Amino acid sequence: MDHLTPDHASSEDPRPRSRRRAATRALEAHRLPTLIAPDVEPEALLRSTLDALSAHIAVLDEAGTIIAVNQAWRAFAHASGYADDNHGVGMNYLAVCEAAAALSKDAARTAEALRDIMAGDRCEFRMEYPCRSPQGPRWFQLRVTRPDQAQTRRIVIAHEDITEVKRTQEELARLSGRLMHLQDEERRAIARELHDTTAQNLLAITLNTTRLHEGLPDVGELARRTLMETLELAEQSLQEVRTLSYLLHPPLLDDIGLTAALSWLARGFSQRSGIQVDISIENSGEPLPRPTATALYRVAQEALSNVHRHSGSKRARLALYRTNDMVQLDVLDSGTGLRSLLKAGNGEVRQIGVGISGMRLRLEQLGGQLDIRSGPSGTHVSARVPIAPVGSEQPL
Ligand SMILES: Nc1ncnc2c1ncn2[C@@H]1O[C@H](COP(=O)(O)OP(=O)(O)O)[C@@H](O)[C@H]1O
Ligand SMILES: [Mg+2]
Repeated sequence: MDHLTPDHASSEDPRPRSRRRAATRALEAHRLPTLIAPDVEPEALLRSTLDALSAHIAVLDEAGTIIAVNQAWRAFAHASGYADDNHGVGMNYLAVCEAAAALSKDAARTAEALRDIMAGDRCEFRMEYPCRSPQGPRWFQLRVTRPDQAQTRRIVIAHEDITEVKRTQEELARLSGRLMHLQDEERRAIARELHDTTAQNLLAITLNTTRLHEGLPDVGELARRTLMETLELAEQSLQEVRTLSYLLHPPLLDDIGLTAALSWLARGFSQRSGIQVDISIENSGEPLPRPTATALYRVAQEALSNVHRHSGSKRARLALYRTNDMVQLDVLDSGTGLRSLLKAGNGEVRQIGVGISGMRLRLEQLGGQLDIRSGPSGTHVSARVPIAPVGSEQPL
């Protein structure tokens, strides 16, 4: 039995028994599990632990004043030329962010988040930001947390250098973009080859077979049937090769533009899948730069294929329109919605299979973005790409 039990307390404590019990319960609730062995000196442990971390760390009190910083913080402050001997200890971090807020959006966001955290409205804030440093441009992740300790309200600020991660991400995005571009070029070449050579040869075969059929009236029944079959097969192959070539790279995209290509895609898709597509195109902003038209066409193709393969919806809607400086493509269905996926709390879908990440990547390469909202009554895929504002020159 330890010294907090009511029985022990009752021998000296003059308070009524019920109040003593309540006080004891409160004390027990605040008691933290033992983290440090009895013979370890806490300050030395704290100091060595904080200093061993690579993140630049400052601990704030509940008013936002810096009460401790680690070695990485001190070294960065020193290298960045901050003359303050205390490396910021004693300064109010919130006030520093607020003073910088007018000049920096990142500082304004941090100040806002810090105020929320100090008020107890949120527990954590993360932000990635670029920063000039003595070693050149770098990226950091700022993390502001309020450790969940009942008695002392502290806030921990941690700036972690993520430059290497960012560089790898950029390299990956560059490489993926290049791969996608090569894939498009390859498809274009195969489509052209199929269309210009194989389809032409098949057409010649159908014409020759027809001539044979017509020019040899008294061949036997077997030969006639064989010729007819050959003709049918050749016509069928011609049709297949044409469809394949158009799917690989629709010639309309280069010649007549995105609107016509989307209408063609929707028609063919409806015929193949039995799903009715309502298409609405207002002021498409054409002529669009070729990479933009290609990316939006591919998004429409993938999104429609997803409607067919995954949604169970019998109808879809495809819309294309431009605002002043954006062109937007929407594909909507009234199907089951995305099920087994990583979803943000608000129903927004973040990251998943190859098709969706491919669409996202294509758009990001052009400075655009993909948003997917999904719920039990359907899915809404929305792709946006910035274009030159109305009235300014369009790069083609
Ligand atoms: N319109 C949709 N309706 C329902 N589920 C969808 C829809 N689009 C995508 N999904 C789900 O998201 C997953 C990932 O899609 P995607 O990245 O295109 O990969 P894939 O189509 O190759 O499976 C699908 O497997 C499916 O479960
Ligand atoms: Mg897919």
